[in-house]
Amino acid sequence: MKTRTHRCGDLRVEHVGQTVTVCGWVDTKRDRGGVAFILLRDVAGKVQLTFAEEINPELLAATKEVRHEFVITATGKVRERDAENKTTTMASGDIEIAVESFEILNTAVTPAIEVRDDLKCDSELRLKHRFIDLRRRPMQAMLQARAKLLECARETLGGEGFLEVETPVLYKRTPEGARDFIVPSRAHRGQFYALPQSPQLFKQLCMISGLDRYYQVARCFRDEDKRADRQPEFTQIDIEMSFPTRDDVMELFEKVVGNVFKGIREDARFKDQSWPVLSGSEVSPPFERMSYEQAMRDYSIDRPDLRSRDLKLTDLTGWAAGCSFNAFKGVAEKQGLVKALRCPGLVDGFSTGQLKNLERDAKGMGATGLANLKVTDAGLEGGIAKFIPEVEQKAMIDGVGAKPGDLLLICAHEKHKIVHAVMHNMRLLIAEKLGLHDNSKFAICWIIDFPLFEYREEDEKLFASHHPFTLPQDVARVREMAEISRKGGEPHPVARMLRGGVKIEEILALRNNQYDLVINGIEIAGGSIRMHRTDDQADVFELVGIGKEEADKKFGFLMSALDHGAPPHGGIASGVDRLLMLLLGLDNIQDVIAFPKSATGRDLMIDTPNDVEPALLDELGVKMIPKPEK
Ligand code: AMO
Repeated sequence: MKTRTHRCGDLRVEHVGQTVTVCGWVDTKRDRGGVAFILLRDVAGKVQLTFAEEINPELLAATKEVRHEFVITATGKVRERDAENKTTTMASGDIEIAVESFEILNTAVTPAIEVRDDLKCDSELRLKHRFIDLRRRPMQAMLQARAKLLECARETLGGEGFLEVETPVLYKRTPEGARDFIVPSRAHRGQFYALPQSPQLFKQLCMISGLDRYYQVARCFRDEDKRADRQPEFTQIDIEMSFPTRDDVMELFEKVVGNVFKGIREDARFKDQSWPVLSGSEVSPPFERMSYEQAMRDYSIDRPDLRSRDLKLTDLTGWAAGCSFNAFKGVAEKQGLVKALRCPGLVDGFSTGQLKNLERDAKGMGATGLANLKVTDAGLEGGIAKFIPEVEQKAMIDGVGAKPGDLLLICAHEKHKIVHAVMHNMRLLIAEKLGLHDNSKFAICWIIDFPLFEYREEDEKLFASHHPFTLPQDVARVREMAEISRKGGEPHPVARMLRGGVKIEEILALRNNQYDLVINGIEIAGGSIRMHRTDDQADVFELVGIGKEEADKKFGFLMSALDHGAPPHGGIASGVDRLLMLLLGLDNIQDVIAFPKSATGRDLMIDTPNDVEPALLDELGVKMIPKPEK
């Protein structure tokens, strides 16, 4: 085989007259009687190979054997195409190679999917034949952008004195919100490793080891319900630093994000792409900051899409408490929530059937209903308007800031969670309808001042809303609560605190030192300042129901490390896959990962998970229980 002199996609007019050798895959072949054209493709693009009878009839005859996706090498002279044969559809469209010799390096069977940029086919078929799918230019460009993203992050972090440290993948179960993947140990029969949901505790340990600034491009594993923006294994840019303020971490991460945008925008390889990142709005730190409370009040979600920032929700609970419509009044009296969405100018935006469908969707999320009211010059019209006297109508219209021509959607429920879920979804739907969610715009904001705990009524338990290593804002009050809880009596910390005179509202009003970065409604990164003192950590463990014994068993290593002079520390982790999805304007996380799992968590190409030999299970001490028949 001759040595390759150029990549196909790199050849231009400046190479005319040179004898070159290229290698690649046969993209297309056309026979034109007396002349044949092969488009040869490699990682840099395509080039046309021309075989003419008048130059070499044997060579032309030999092309008969060549099929799609054969791997060939060809040598010949670069020449400029006639003006009428030039094409702008490929970067080398001004030239062609007049082939003097070529060799078939490998044959290929007909692939199950076509290697074309605009391929439209079943996603499972693409996953099954991923090595073919990845030959397509959009996929190669995606992988190049992914590498560029990591390159920019590494460059920024390296420049700021961060050290890349690898931490173990065979890890231990820790509470981070999802289920763990577990790995049985042969050497320690009956015991298991867990794959890390994130390197959280190791990075904290790195700070205790005095590394000062750590980062890692870390693979994380979470066994969660599937979603378009989730994968069971995904990648984080994981960062931790010692002695930081909250602002230090946020500012550092803003630098990383800014440089990632800049790096991809300035990379000439991506000129042929139409990604949002290339045409999108300016990304200039410092990014806006919004409190969790404001996000929930105005948008009913802690990751608001601020491309539609003016489409705000209004809390009507106060109004509802004094209104004549019993369903709303009842909800307000039971400490429920009543929220309205003003849909500007959409008074005739939906047919009656469509409004019914919206209500059906709301009911699907647990709501009892979704009221719709039309705002006219005469007041409110439609549905429940007849139950609301004129003065109350006026107060509602004023409260919502509605104008004639608007449509109001209202949801009321005792459970705030249901109202938030419904109204968030309605807001997204209306924003789409109004064309507010332009993909080429990036609305970036930090969400801060999150609640320290979430309360799950079903089991009367508190959960750390970020993770239980996050520093509370009011450490002194948490200490008092933990002391009350430690007095015992009731089975759960919440019950113990309530008995000790602490109000549930007070527990839920506690705030933490977490910060999440949200772009266009997607949580791109999350982090926090941590507890660096054993007693503070023990207090939070106590309140989330991890008593001393359990803490020692599960987190003895952390507690001991904190006891050995842990510095104040904090960090952040960014979801590489989600960030890339957003930059490239893709909806499915599978499309930004070289070898992703399918929607059901399988690798369809290598076909896993799969069975293992019974002998191996015996060795591991694991017994298979057959799936119960339905
Ligand atoms: P958190 O759990 O918020 O924080 O995760 C950080 C970021 O990781 C991404 N992410 C995911 N991406 C794809 N698939 C998933 N299943 C998935 N889950 C999370 C998100 C998210 O913002 N250890 C802490 C970080 C810290 O406190 O420093 C952590 O992992 O983009």
